[in-house]
Amino acid sequence: MNFLSICTTETIKSAALALKSGELVAFPTETVYGLGGDASNPEAVARIYAAKGRPADHPLIVHIASLDGMGQWARDIPEYAIALARDFWPGPLTLVLKRSELAQDFITGGQETVGLRVPAHPIALALIKEFNAVGGKGIAAPSANRFGAVSPTTAQAVEEELAPYLLEGDLILDGGPSLVGLESTIVDCTGPTPMILRLGAITPLMVEESTGLVALESNPTGIKAPGTLDSHYSPKAEVILDVIAEPGDGLIAPDQIPTPNGVIRLSAPSSIEQYARELYQALRSADQRGLSVVVVLQPGGDGLAAAIRDRLQRSAQKK
Ligand code: TXA
Ligand code: MG
Repeated sequence: MNFLSICTTETIKSAALALKSGELVAFPTETVYGLGGDASNPEAVARIYAAKGRPADHPLIVHIASLDGMGQWARDIPEYAIALARDFWPGPLTLVLKRSELAQDFITGGQETVGLRVPAHPIALALIKEFNAVGGKGIAAPSANRFGAVSPTTAQAVEEELAPYLLEGDLILDGGPSLVGLESTIVDCTGPTPMILRLGAITPLMVEESTGLVALESNPTGIKAPGTLDSHYSPKAEVILDVIAEPGDGLIAPDQIPTPNGVIRLSAPSSIEQYARELYQALRSADQRGLSVVVVLQPGGDGLAAAIRDRLQRSAQKK
C-alpha cells in the first residue's frame, strides 16, 4: 500500500479529516517525524502504541497549534512555563505540565502530567490548525519509529519503519528532511524550577535565560521515558563510540577527521547543527548498507553537542 503523500492544502485538509475519523497520519516536524493520532480518541491512540510496538504506560506528547491551547490540556501552569512557551514555541521544546481532565490516562500513561509541544514545521502547524477546524483538540505524536529504533527524519524513513503496521486510510505526509534532526528538549514544569528530562536543541542555558531560574537535569526513575531505557535510538548495526574504525566499519565523524582506508563514511558534518541533522539518517544508512559496526566520534562541547552525545550513548547500549 502507498501511504506517502506530497503536501498540498488539500492533502493537509484530508489528513486532518482522517485524524478526526481515527486514522493515523505521520507528519514532518522540525525535530523528527511524528506518528499522529487524535489525542482525544482512545482507539486512535491505541493504534499508535500498536504501530510503534510501544508499552502502553509510556506517555505521548500532545501537539497543539499555539500557546493558547495550553490551558485546555494543562492546569496550574507556572509563570516560568509560560515564559518558555513564549520564547520557544513554535519550536523543539516539550513542556510537561499538570494535566487537565482532557488529558486522559491513555495519553499520559496514567501519570498526572501531560507533555505539550507546538512544532515549528509549517506542515505540522497547518495540520494541527486544520484538525482544530474540524473539532480536534490536539494531535498525539511520538516519533514515527518502532520502539527502541532510530527516529525518522524523512518521510521515506517513516515508511521503512512503519508501513507494515499502517492500515488503509492512514497517511504519511512528506515535508522533506527534518531541520533539527534530534527530538525536542523536554522540560518538566510541575515543580518550583524547570527540570530537563531530555536534552535537545533548546539548551539548559536557553531555559535558564528564558526563565531566570536554575534548570536542573534529571531522569527520575519514576518517570517513564523510553529514551532513558538502556538501549534506544539504535540501528541494527552495533554502534561503537570513539574508537578507530576498521576496514568494513561505517564512520560518522566531524569533517576534519579523515576516513581510514576501507572504512565507509556515513556522515562528515562541518557543524554541530549538521551533525544533529544528519545523524539519524547516517545510522539508518548503516543498516541499508548491511554494515555490522558503525564507529561514531562524538562531538565535544555543550548545548546541541551534549544532546547528540546523550542519544549516541543510548544508541551504543547493548540490546
Ligand atoms: O521532537 C519530539 O518530541 C518528537 C516530535 C514528533 O514531536 N516526539 C517525540 O515523541 O520524540 P516520543 O514519544 O518519541 O518521545 C517523547 C518522550 C517520551 O520519552 C515520553 O516518555 C516523554 O516524552 N513524555 C511524554 N509525556 C510525558 C510526561 N507527561 N511526563 C514525562 N515524560 C513524558
Ligand atoms: Mg521516540
